[in-house]
This record gives sequence, C-alpha cells and structure tokens, in this order.
Amino acid sequence: MTSSEIRKRFLDFFAKRGHAILPSAPLVPKNDPSVLFNTAGMQPLVPFLMGEKHPLGNRLASCQKCVRTVDIEEVGNHKNLSFFEMLGNWSLGSYFKEESIGWSYEFLTSKEEGLGLDPKRLYVTVFEGDEDAPRDMEAVEIWKKFIPENRIYFLPKKNNWWSPGDNGPCGPDTEMFYDVTEKGLGDLTHEEYVVADDKGEVVEIWNNVFMEYEKKDGKVIGKLQQKNVDTGSGLERVTMLMQGKRNVYESDVFAPAMEFIELNTKGIPDERSARIIADHTRSATMLIADGVVPSNKDQGYVLRRFIRRAVVQAKNIGFSYELLGVLQSGFMAKYEDVYPELKENVDAQKEIFNKEVEKFIKTLEAGLKEFEKGTDPFILATTYGFPIEVTEEIAKEKGITIDRADFDQKMKAHQEASRAGAEQKFKGGLANTSEQTTRLHTAHHLLLKALQEVVSPDIHQKGSNITEERLRIDFNFDRKLTEEEKSAVENKVNEWIRQDLKVVKREMPREDAEKLGAEMEFGVKYPEVVSVYFIEDVNGNTVSKEFCGGPHVERIGTLGTFKIQKEEASSAGVRRIKAILS
Ligand code: SER
Repeated sequence: MTSSEIRKRFLDFFAKRGHAILPSAPLVPKNDPSVLFNTAGMQPLVPFLMGEKHPLGNRLASCQKCVRTVDIEEVGNHKNLSFFEMLGNWSLGSYFKEESIGWSYEFLTSKEEGLGLDPKRLYVTVFEGDEDAPRDMEAVEIWKKFIPENRIYFLPKKNNWWSPGDNGPCGPDTEMFYDVTEKGLGDLTHEEYVVADDKGEVVEIWNNVFMEYEKKDGKVIGKLQQKNVDTGSGLERVTMLMQGKRNVYESDVFAPAMEFIELNTKGIPDERSARIIADHTRSATMLIADGVVPSNKDQGYVLRRFIRRAVVQAKNIGFSYELLGVLQSGFMAKYEDVYPELKENVDAQKEIFNKEVEKFIKTLEAGLKEFEKGTDPFILATTYGFPIEVTEEIAKEKGITIDRADFDQKMKAHQEASRAGAEQKFKGGLANTSEQTTRLHTAHHLLLKALQEVVSPDIHQKGSNITEERLRIDFNFDRKLTEEEKSAVENKVNEWIRQDLKVVKREMPREDAEKLGAEMEFGVKYPEVVSVYFIEDVNGNTVSKEFCGGPHVERIGTLGTFKIQKEEASSAGVRRIKAILS
C-alpha cells in the first residue's frame, strides 16, 4: 500500500464515521507565537480541545504537516524525520474511549477499509495511574475485547501521558505497537516487551490520548469541561511497516529521492548523508510552500539550517548542488495534490530554495578551508554563514569537539556589542550579523583607509551605519569629492580585495591601541580593553587598524566588488558616502 493510499484510507475511514476532514493547517501556527511549528496534529485544535466550539462539529480528522527539530541531530538514522505527516482523529466531547479504541483496532486490522495488519503482532500500552489520574482500567477492558490481556502493558506518565506543553489539554493515552521482526515475537512479558521496544522490534504506530485533564504551569490542575479524544499516527512510520521496510527511506515516501541521489553520486553514497539530504530537502520544500523564507531567526533560521545542512552533506558525498533543486521539485510534485500550496507560486518557491543553496555555496568552500585550520565556530557563523548546528555536524564527522558554551558566550557578547552599538559606543549595524552586513563592515574599514590614502590623511570617521544592503560613513572633509577621487578610492579598495588581505582581531588595553594609532571614532567612549581589527597583507604589513566590536570577515577576498553609490554633504564640514558590495 502506498503512502497516498494509507492517507486516503485513514481519512475515508473517519469521514464514514461522521468526522469532518480538515485540511492541514500551515506549518507555522497562526496566532501562536509560543511555538515555531506545528509539531502534532492536535496543535491547531487546542482552543477546541479546551472547549471552544469548532465550526465543523465535534468529530474531526486530518493529515497534518508537522516539523520537529528537537531531534534534528538524529535525522539520518532509520526513523527520525524533521518533517512528517500526522494522521489523527478527534472527538471534542463527542465519543470517548470505547469508540476511539474500537475504531483504531478496526482501522489497523480491517483488510477492506483499513490497513489489514496482523492482530497477532499488535501490542498495547496503557497508563498505570498516579496521583493525577487512576490506572486506566477502562481502556484495558475495551482492549480486552480485541487483543489478549497479556499483550497489554501498564506504563507510567513518562510513556503514557500526553500534553502539548506545560499548559493546555492533556491526559492519559493508550499506544499501539506493531511487531516488525521477521519471525514474530509472540507473547512477551512486561520486561521482554520493554526490551523489544528498546531494540526497535516493536514500532509505535498510533497514540490515542484521552484528553480530559488540564495542565497549568506544568501541573495537572483538574478536569476539562468535556472529554476529548486526540489521536495521532505518523504516516511515514506506518508506511514503512506496511511496505515491510525497516527504515523510512526505503518506503515510497523517500525511495525515489534516495534513488536519484544514488544515481547522481559516484559510487555508493554514504547512507546517512543521503538520508539527511532527502529529509532536509523535503522539510525545506514544505516550509517554503508555507511562506517561510531563509533568515537568521525563528522559522527562517530553521529553514536555512535545513538547506545548508543538505548542501554540506551533498558536498560530502559529491552530489551536485544544483540537483538539490531537482529534489525539491520532485517533492513538490509528489505532494501537490495533498497540499495545494505547493502548486502556488511554484517558480518563486524554487527560486527561494535555489538562491539559498547558491548563497551558501559561495562561502562553503572558503568556510570549510577555515574549518580545517581550526577556525572558531563563531567566525564561521558570522563570516561564512555556517549555522552552529552545521559546524557541529561537520565537527562530529571529523571527530572534533566544538566548545558550544564558548560559542554561545561569544554570540551573546556579540549581541551585547550590537546593543552597545545602538548606544553609539561602537559602530552602527552590529545587531545584524548576516554575512552581507559582516562584509560591509569590513569594507567600511577599507573605505576609511582608502579615503585617508587617496584624499587626505586627516580624514576620520564621524559616524556610520550599516545595513544588509549598504554601508554609510560620515567623515570630516570640507568639499565634494571629485569623480577622479571617488574612482581612485574605489580602485584602492578593490585592489585590496583582490589581494585577499586578512583580517586579524587583537584584544589589547585601550592605551596600547591608542599608542599604535588605531583608528577610533571621535567622541566615542571606549572600554579599558578594546578589540582592534588589523587588515594585513601577506607580509604582515598593516593596511588598516581600527577599534571595533566586529564582526568582520577573515579574508577580504570574499567581499566582491566595492562601489561608491553616493557622496554628499552630511552637515557642516562633514561628508557622507554610501557604498555597496556586489
Ligand atoms: N497528540 C498526540 C501525539 O502527538 C496524539 O495525537 O502523539
């Protein structure tokens, strides 16, 4: 049975039993800034589980798109996925345990309407009871009608209680597991069952939560006004076992993508890399279709991580970067009938994906080289756009340990420096750590130096501002620059860029830095210990030295072409230049 057929059978089964079929909500929850993504089918339904009336009634079913990033590091093993589809049915105060368990059993085992699974391979767990709720004997009594009592196991809250977080609806659950071993496990004692679960010989296929309780600040505070049912079953996992596979990548969900990767890689690709490429490309495809664009925060950052991790793995196995876009198109086509948003603005979706790939490729090689040299993950993040998780991933493969605490601390200091920037202590624009801003920041130092060399050694900075698009510098000078001066300044900067000068940061007491004649902004109060950025040629000769909080690129060869866009008066005796890198 294909994944599409399983999805369809599930929804038809519940439609026939009076459930309204809901389209999947977007991956990014509407009106809920507390979570980045929908991580379960029930998430968009929380208000209704809490008692609000749903316009389509009190029996609902859906196939919901979900993204979970907590175990993103595990992706590449046989079962963890960053994007998955969750099949679910809900009762909002309509039916309760009797129907819920009965229908689950029927759907799992019925050959006509359901999956036709072998009942002798089913195992069930139920809540063992604690101070919040009693042992779920009611569920046991119902299950006993379908499967032998010795295949029903009691487990504690850790396993058999579900809530979406510290606040909201929750309750005990009953979970269904399927024996995926070849010969069949037969009857298992409680201990044997736990071992089989640990070994992956039984796989969870469905979870029915009896949501009649409410949680507040992590504590169960009492019962809800209605008894709800919330069930969830991972489509990819069910597909895997229906197709007799031990890993999701061999099922029809991923097999075409895996084949494509294999065909376009010389030799047999590393399995884990290929899986990460397939998983992350699919997740990125789905996020883009829901309007997420790569950025440095929140959902956009997760998307960026997916794409950049996929690029790193592609490089790892020699799978051409351009073909990642083909994989994206493949996933779009595969899912467009289920999720119509994949059919809207198709070209724009592809462009967003491909642009991010291209953008990262530009710095990937240089970044990897830096990595070989043992470069700080902080520099890799701020200068080369390596999300820390990507750096960690590469480090892991090479058996290197990353000092995450050090990174976090530097990032924090970096953000604090940004705030200080806003208070005029450092130069502007530090809050923005994107690669382009970083490049412009370095170009800013070069420009000041070029102005001093070409126009007048008395020029100093009077103010500055940097955005993603351009840099701006204010400096003391009492007339308009000539066209010749402007192009001489541009040529000078571009000449340095061509020489690929290196940028070195040195921390030193302020007094020493002043003695060295490091450039500083007039009227700004600097701390006791300052960072000075030196731009040096191969022989260690200093081209520029400035007090600065950073961030900067490490080699200026990555800056591109420097161009002055505008030169104008800013105030009496102060000129202003706006310049770009292209
Ligand atoms: N909310 C439960 C889960 O995600 C059942 O749908 O497992």
